[in-house]
Amino acid sequence: MMTTLEAAWQRRSVLHELDGTTAYRLLNRAGDGFPTLSVDRFSTVLIANLYERTAPPYSLLQALADRAGALAVYVKHRPLQASGLDEQTRAQLAPEKPLLGRPLPRVEVLENGLSFLIRPAEGLNPGLFLDMRPARARLQKRVRNQTVLNCFAYTCGFAVAALNGGAARVLNLDISRRYLDWGRQNVELNGFSTVPTDFLQGDVMDWLNRLGRRGQRFDWVILDPPSYSTTRNSRFTVERDYPRLVAMAAKVVQPGGWLMACTNQEQLTLRAFLARIRQGLQGQPARIIRTEHEPELDFPVAPGGKPYLKVCLVRIGSSPAR
Ligand SMILES: C[S@@+](CC[C@H](N)C(=O)[O-])C[C@H]1O[C@@H](n2cnc3c(N)ncnc32)[C@H](O)[C@@H]1O
Repeated sequence: MMTTLEAAWQRRSVLHELDGTTAYRLLNRAGDGFPTLSVDRFSTVLIANLYERTAPPYSLLQALADRAGALAVYVKHRPLQASGLDEQTRAQLAPEKPLLGRPLPRVEVLENGLSFLIRPAEGLNPGLFLDMRPARARLQKRVRNQTVLNCFAYTCGFAVAALNGGAARVLNLDISRRYLDWGRQNVELNGFSTVPTDFLQGDVMDWLNRLGRRGQRFDWVILDPPSYSTTRNSRFTVERDYPRLVAMAAKVVQPGGWLMACTNQEQLTLRAFLARIRQGLQGQPARIIRTEHEPELDFPVAPGGKPYLKVCLVRIGSSPAR
């Protein structure tokens, strides 16, 4: 009989064979029969996320590394809530040294032919959220000659996809200068020239206000906030503040343009999320066109479970929100 590990490997055979993609999920917790473990492949590096405070499963990870031809396996201990952790706790949760193999602090990966810089040794998140692969691909197909406002840009994965799809301009907003610099590197790595004014540091809420007051409008506005965020001047939670965020973002969408509203908060049902989006739209002409989830191929959902990622496409300025 096929082992659980073998079944997970076989399930992804299409991904193993893809020329232009070297980053995807190899094991997805209960969806692959490993409730407390997920493993991501970033080219020659594996990152194992542990969801329980137990010893890492060395032999399983070694077997997976051998199978994938990986040179290093790093471990991240996933806390229930990652925001507000101090530096020391973060360092303990995300050890700088690999658990197996040799240190590989930088690695370049491909996704649909696009390059991204990954830093496996730095912090809990190595630089690319793999569950957004279909959302990046979809955006790329729809933005030719259009302007994009990428809120909560992180390392600018959406910007890279949009520019590759021929976007006229992508403006990236994030609270972290370090992530924006990393994002600018990603954009340049793919052969696009950059200007500093397209990588703006600060609180998204402040920037949305400012852009709205200046009368700036975009064909696309992307909202992908963390579930919880605390900055020097503000606190944000998806559950409480998404309507306010949508209301502010909708004001900077060109009539006929698009809002891409995302959340990865598992506890928030799709229904509750859509209700927050509608509340934010406050009856203005808009239509929720479709909702997408994490890719089934490498993020299978456990039997009886529900997908956690929600990516909603909203057309602004057509008819009242439904
Ligand atoms: C979930 S990540 C976004 C992932 C990104 N959209 C992607 O697909 O790669 C959340 C990002 O929001 C940023 N952030 C958190 N609170 C913020 C705030 N109030 N204003 C601006 N950026 C914020 C964090 O620095 C982080 O880069």
